[in-house]
Amino acid sequence: MKSIAIIGGGYIGKMHAAAIKKSGRMQLAALVHSHEDAGKEFAREFGCVYYGDAGKMLAEEKVDIVDVCLPTSLHEQYTILAAEHKKHAICEKPFALTSEAARRMKDACDKAGVKLMIAQVLRWMPEFAKIKELLDKGIVGNLHMVYTNRLAQHPNWTEWHRNPAISGGGLFDIHLHDIDYLYYLFGKVEEVYALGWKSPSGCWNHVVSSLTFKNGVKAVSEGSLEMIGDFPFSAAFRATGDKATVDYQLTAGFNIENLGAASNKLVLFEKDAPAKRIEVTALDAFQAELEAFVSTVEEDKPVPISPEDSVYVIKIIEALQASLESGTIVKVIR
Ligand SMILES: NC(=O)c1ccc[n+]([C@@H]2O[C@H](COP(=O)([O-])OP(=O)(O)OC[C@H]3O[C@@H](n4cnc5c(N)ncnc54)[C@H](O)[C@@H]3O)[C@@H](O)[C@H]2O)c1
Repeated sequence: MKSIAIIGGGYIGKMHAAAIKKSGRMQLAALVHSHEDAGKEFAREFGCVYYGDAGKMLAEEKVDIVDVCLPTSLHEQYTILAAEHKKHAICEKPFALTSEAARRMKDACDKAGVKLMIAQVLRWMPEFAKIKELLDKGIVGNLHMVYTNRLAQHPNWTEWHRNPAISGGGLFDIHLHDIDYLYYLFGKVEEVYALGWKSPSGCWNHVVSSLTFKNGVKAVSEGSLEMIGDFPFSAAFRATGDKATVDYQLTAGFNIENLGAASNKLVLFEKDAPAKRIEVTALDAFQAELEAFVSTVEEDKPVPISPEDSVYVIKIIEALQASLESGTIVKVIR
């Protein structure tokens, strides 16, 4: 059984720890966390050893995998540290705040001969897996337009998201989920154009992007990390083609807290046929993504999301950022 150390015991670190515990296919050996009391409490809850310093943990613990669940600006430092200690690394999204930093992380892991995967959890969410299957099978036909959104209130458990130098703002933190998924579906991007709202602290926290893919598909995607009041966490995906429309709508509660009770509807509208509700088997997408990574380590296979692809996704985000800043159409670099 592979053993894992989580670095960063906050919101997502806890989700990963719970998924590891539920899985039974891996063992949580250690937690590194900057707050001692909270870290020790976490370690007690999940039955692992607490460290306040990642270097000390890596020197003392014989873990196979490091799971980087830190604020985004720290992903580079700690992923490279894991690689230097010859540990495989799974790192939370976004990869990094620049494609150069992402490339340095990839290069460090390649040099050390360890695997690296960016945890783009959407790819394991059953509705999104089903949408990909429908599109790949040609059920929707030739695509006319694709639309997605992901609209959230500002995280109420952190302040660092308000600092663009730490989080990259909503563009990197939430909009990237959809951009990664669109890249997964349609591949490389020819050009982008984006409009957005920049928060007083300098974060592009509400963005509407248009993307033209090299394969001709056109998509519009909206992402917000600063919805106001009781606006529920919402996500949507709609692809319209010459044979069908596939439509997905999710409405959850404040800060996605009651995702289990969310209204979740995936419907296929085909020509000359009644609308068909598509049921998917519920699963814990965090558990599935961690298990997928562990399998690639156990079987020495390529990771399901190549770091090269994840570097490219950061390049799309950089192009969107350049478009937001300049008000012009931006070509995506190869
Ligand atoms: N996949 C998803 O759906 C998803 C959801 C939420 C967050 N995330 C990503 O996960 C990352 C963390 O976000 P979060 O919401 O969990 O943040 P968070 O602030 O809740 O957790 C991060 C924790 O790391 C700790 N920390 C900071 N510096 C440290 C250090 N040097 N060593 C050890 N611990 C340190 C902080 O005390 C904090 O508790 C971000 O990159 C975010 O984008 C992904």
